[in-house]
Amino acid sequence: MKKMMIMLSLISFGTMAQKIDVNKQFALAGQQYLRMLADHPDTSKTIHSAKPDGTYRDLPSSWWCSGFFPGSLWYLYEKTKDVKWEKSARLWTAAVEKEQYNKGTHDLGFMMFDSFGNELRLTKDPHAKKVLIQSAKSLATRFDPKVGLIKSWNSFKGGFKYPVIIDNMMNLELLFWASRETGDQTFHDIAIIHADNTIKNHFRSDYSSYHVICYDENGKVLVKKQHQGYQDESTWSRGHAWAIYGYVTMYRETKDKKYLDFAQKITDFYLNHPNLPADKIPYWDFSAPNIPNEERDASAGAITASALLELSTYSGAKGKRYYADAVKMLESLSSPAYRAALGENNNFLIKHCVGAKGLNSEIDVPLVYADYYYLEGLLRYQRHNKK
Ligand code: GLY
Repeated sequence: MKKMMIMLSLISFGTMAQKIDVNKQFALAGQQYLRMLADHPDTSKTIHSAKPDGTYRDLPSSWWCSGFFPGSLWYLYEKTKDVKWEKSARLWTAAVEKEQYNKGTHDLGFMMFDSFGNELRLTKDPHAKKVLIQSAKSLATRFDPKVGLIKSWNSFKGGFKYPVIIDNMMNLELLFWASRETGDQTFHDIAIIHADNTIKNHFRSDYSSYHVICYDENGKVLVKKQHQGYQDESTWSRGHAWAIYGYVTMYRETKDKKYLDFAQKITDFYLNHPNLPADKIPYWDFSAPNIPNEERDASAGAITASALLELSTYSGAKGKRYYADAVKMLESLSSPAYRAALGENNNFLIKHCVGAKGLNSEIDVPLVYADYYYLEGLLRYQRHNKK
């Protein structure tokens, strides 16, 4: 009976009328990104955002976002099979290659798996595999077994030496991949221990999240802090989006139901929050002080939409709601309210993102990762509707 209900719910997702024109959105994305490429003839700086004066904000490959633009080019290639996108994607992926040895950041999952990971997935290039294995080795050096977590930053205000941020959940997929590829269980174990300690310390009893937890050298929690969000006890929307995406990935990689259950609980916090607007694109913090007169963070919306499309496939009858809300998010992002017209928005796809209003930085701007997760969400939506 239960099995039949799950089957019926999946069939009903598949037959739901298609609400988003994925072909049209990708065609526009292609035109926009051709302009972006024309404005960026050299790859020595990574495409990131725009400055208040209207010029590009391009940053070095060591910046945590360097994998997203190449990743978006790979998604354009995946959708169109047009070799011009493969050529550009390879070029911009190569620009990130040296970061495989970077042991000074926890963000190697973002940087390397979105660039080289997509290259490997779509081209099977053995060179990409080598780069990814080295990247996983570099990331693993930041795990101290006495603490039981990967260190995010080398220090945090107040003299703390072992800060871990919720975003770090996004770097674990690289470790699961490396464990399968090399047969080295250590990568797998690091990911599990990190995720379990994050469940223990990074969430409140209502399943809202903290941004930064500072540990001592033995893994004792010293303080729970905010950095990019509003207050220590508020929930920064993009941080929570990373958490949702991260625990959906944990379930995919382990098939351990405890991660599915947790992913659903933190998703329910987000979807049921009274401050989530009707278009399902959150304000930059769920407790931002002047709601409704606060900026939205469309990047959090794009990350969550993509994660929910995957979560819906694991969630039986509950999945119907996750799917419907994900589609609403993608519809909003595809509307003129968030989707830039050709030539607008410094040639990025998605408008109205917030990097860190808590730090007075990147307020109501395009951000390259919003584009990446938007394109990923569109591809996932298309796959659902082809079932
Ligand atoms: N990982 C940093 C951010 O989401 O802004």
